[in-house]
Amino acid sequence: KSSPDAAPQRLPFSTVTSEDLDFFRKLLPGRAITDQDVVESSNVDWLKSVRGSSEVLLRPQTTDEVSQILRYCNGRNLAVNPQGGNTGLVGGSVPVYDEIILSTSLMNNIMNFDNISGILTCQAGCVLENLSLYLEDRDYIMPLDLGAKGSCQIGGNVATNAGGLRLLRYGSLHGTVLGLEVVLADGRVLDCLATLRKDNTGYDLKQLFIGSEGTLGVITAVSILCPRKPKSVNVVFLGCETFEQLLKTFQLCRGMLGEILSAYEFLDSECMKLLNTHLKLPNPISECPFYIVIETSGSDSSHDSQKLHNFLEEAMTATLVTDGTVATEDSKIKALWSMRERITEALTHDGFVYKYDISLPVERIYQLVTDMREHLRGRAKRVVGYGHVGDGNLHLNITSPAKDPALLAAIEPFVYEWTSRFQGSISAEHGLGLKKRNYIYYSKPSQAVALMGGLKAMLDPNGILNPYKTLPDKLK
Ligand code: FAD
Ligand code: MLT
Ligand code: ZN
Repeated sequence: KSSPDAAPQRLPFSTVTSEDLDFFRKLLPGRAITDQDVVESSNVDWLKSVRGSSEVLLRPQTTDEVSQILRYCNGRNLAVNPQGGNTGLVGGSVPVYDEIILSTSLMNNIMNFDNISGILTCQAGCVLENLSLYLEDRDYIMPLDLGAKGSCQIGGNVATNAGGLRLLRYGSLHGTVLGLEVVLADGRVLDCLATLRKDNTGYDLKQLFIGSEGTLGVITAVSILCPRKPKSVNVVFLGCETFEQLLKTFQLCRGMLGEILSAYEFLDSECMKLLNTHLKLPNPISECPFYIVIETSGSDSSHDSQKLHNFLEEAMTATLVTDGTVATEDSKIKALWSMRERITEALTHDGFVYKYDISLPVERIYQLVTDMREHLRGRAKRVVGYGHVGDGNLHLNITSPAKDPALLAAIEPFVYEWTSRFQGSISAEHGLGLKKRNYIYYSKPSQAVALMGGLKAMLDPNGILNPYKTLPDKLK
């Protein structure tokens, strides 16, 4: 019996011929790559957990080139895997078999920035960190930030509806993305690249592509609403004894910091051990079972410091937190953020990683970690919890020295059944990709999944776009 996350059989797509290669080479001179050393890195995901066998990597620069590629592939029944920065964590960004990889890496132009409205319009292949640096020079920031910022691209962020570290403050991409340009499977260009805050003229089609993981169209350009750069930023790293105290601290800080609170993140002591051991990052405070990263962003540093000071005093007096450190200057802020942002990287040095990205009523999120530890009773190397407390989003990660099918069978479907019991989501922010597609029914009713299947069939009748991803192998 094959495991539920295994790929289904290859679908009857065509295979790439020398005539196909001639077409691609003529369309994209020097940018239709078949050198296997180069293609190899695009065949393997960031976690090195899934691997495709594509022989062709296409690097268009313009929307028109993307359109011509898709029109051709659709006509020839060739499957296509859209790829951005290849930092996705659910096996969605790489081919399963020999799908052609369509990379947006060379589509990296900023098209416009309006410094009155803060609306940025750019091509999909712009790297998130480059956009952030561009905006910071103009006194703005991107409304999203994530540990993969140095490689992930805005098109990939939109395609996965990435959440990240600022969602608590600036909301999801469903709110901040104002417009999209998308090339459909048959090559038609859907121009919904509006730059308006308000636009209720008919259905909001762009929403369909936000979080569609490359299965409904290739995003070629994005317009996004960017907040002003906060004049004052503080980061606090705190330790506390129990998760209950961590939640009480969250309540307190929401009340006392109010509008300046911009992030409330957590990690447990197992994550701290990973950071110490694998990345040699020292604990900035004394050892505690739980750690909190709080960020404030505001416009008046003395007002913000005063509020923060009052909050910290209250949290200490009420013995909610046992130790802490505050950063106001850039280098220390970065160092404290590393303790949260680099957990993903630290985990990869611990062995094979089973990753779960769950949202639940916030008071339940750590119970899943303790229940899983109990359930696995020493069969895993490590069971760790971290995540976006402010969004009710837990990252439960389980490591083992090597890939371990018996361990996987002990984790799944236990983790999904547990999540479903509390009406949680089995994919809070990473998407379903290849790995989680067949678990969709734990979080969505069959009518909803059937409608998703109908939309896929309408927009991509030949199913050439990112096959084997997001939707389950069998619709109920
Ligand atoms: P890829 O990995 O290349 O692709 C992801 C998916 O989008 C694939 O299905 C692909 O087919 C599709 N896709 C990519 N570009 C396009 C396009 N232009 N048009 C259509 N489809 C496209 N995620 C979070 O949500 N929050 C986090 O905090 C977070 N932190 C991370 C930290 C690290 C260290 C790492 C490695 C990953 C993290 N991720 C996080 C996951 C990942 O970075 C995000 O999912 C990111 O948005 C993916 O962007 P990408 O450009 O790398 O896309
Ligand atoms: C994070 O919040 O760090 C990311 O979503 C990556 C991960 O889950 O490891
Ligand atoms: Zn996350």
